[in-house]
Amino acid sequence: MKNGLQMNFDMALAGVRETGVYQEGLIAAKEKLHSGKTDFTGWVDLPSEYNREEIRRIAETAEEIRGKCSAFIVIGIGGSYLGARAAVEMLSHSFAREIGKAGAPKIYFAGMNISGTYHAELMDTIEREEVCLCVISKSGTTTECSIAFALLKDALIKKYGKEEAARRIYAVTDAKRGVLREETDREGYTSFVVPDDIGGRYSVLTPVGLLPIAAAGIQIEEMLEGAREAQASAELMETAETYAATRNALFNKGKVIEIFEAYEPRLQYFTEWLKQLFGESEGKDGRGLFPAALQLSTDLHSMGQFLQQGNPIFFETVLNVKNPPKDVTVPEDAGALLAGKSMNQVNQAAVAGVMEAHRKAGVPILKLDLPELSPRIFGQLVYFFETACGLSGYLMGVDPFNQPGVESYKEEMRAELSRL
Ligand code: PA5
Repeated sequence: MKNGLQMNFDMALAGVRETGVYQEGLIAAKEKLHSGKTDFTGWVDLPSEYNREEIRRIAETAEEIRGKCSAFIVIGIGGSYLGARAAVEMLSHSFAREIGKAGAPKIYFAGMNISGTYHAELMDTIEREEVCLCVISKSGTTTECSIAFALLKDALIKKYGKEEAARRIYAVTDAKRGVLREETDREGYTSFVVPDDIGGRYSVLTPVGLLPIAAAGIQIEEMLEGAREAQASAELMETAETYAATRNALFNKGKVIEIFEAYEPRLQYFTEWLKQLFGESEGKDGRGLFPAALQLSTDLHSMGQFLQQGNPIFFETVLNVKNPPKDVTVPEDAGALLAGKSMNQVNQAAVAGVMEAHRKAGVPILKLDLPELSPRIFGQLVYFFETACGLSGYLMGVDPFNQPGVESYKEEMRAELSRL
């Protein structure tokens, strides 16, 4: 199926012949999305209505950060982490941190786990760097984020003194509420606001994602332009509807797991972002497709057996990059079958071969071809999947924009902590 942009989503191998049964549901779902009255749907019109002044300020702040630090540490978790990491990893050199580049800070992430080892080793790693922190938390009270921020802020104050440390801290948080907002206002950190009407997993095109993405040197205006193109493309939005209906049809046929498969390692965190988007949106009221991710061909050597012959409770959504950013030619030594071919050609042969083997095994397969990895395509993808997820959640009979279950573990953990 062509979609008017450069992406092509082929659902012919999904084995779903008829999605007409979902038409009424889709009409109702679209109404809810576009009514302007549904909570947490601020992302729907964001690409065409974003605040240009804020984007200019983000770009300026990113330039300041790039001029000031050699290590930029982004502190956040879940919706305050995955979108930025997905973009940074998709659109940066695979070894950006190792090779370093003048005027381009190495981007590190913190506060997305509670590992003392990870954070101790991060502190070792940045010891000789010029450091800036970006703390991102809507609530300002998330444990993982609070610990990492306290730790890194402490190190920053020891290194630079309180005043200069404050000039090196950037905060993205609620406009009015929460301890992080209070501290930000008190200490005078440069700050941006997490919009009230956009939930964490839909927030990558707000300052939550855009500040770290811009600090990594990625063109955020192009990204927003891509999202706007997606929003304006009737054909792409129709494709999102077909995808939403197809995954519901598969779910109702007992395919309860959707495996997102990427053949480019740079897409690993995009698939992590997809896991949160779909998992948190649909996994409620005892329902929901379980979103999983595999990196191929790597995982064929661990999970390939299951995919070929295991419990057939899943379908595959392949993310295939037609023109990856770089390529190499396979040398003679690799043998006659491979020699002289480009590595990307071999990767494409893997995509086609794996799909054919899985098709023969009866696995339903959807394949999304991306023309390239660029900010514009990232923006298109984000808007496409956000829309599909909202529609799909409604078809599934859940509210795709709340997350009532997220708090439970936090309460139990606080109880454990108070017993320590
Ligand atoms: O989507 C969500 O609600 C979560 O993933 C949150 O984004 C995550 O728990 C972080 O919350 P906060 O931004 O309040 O620190």
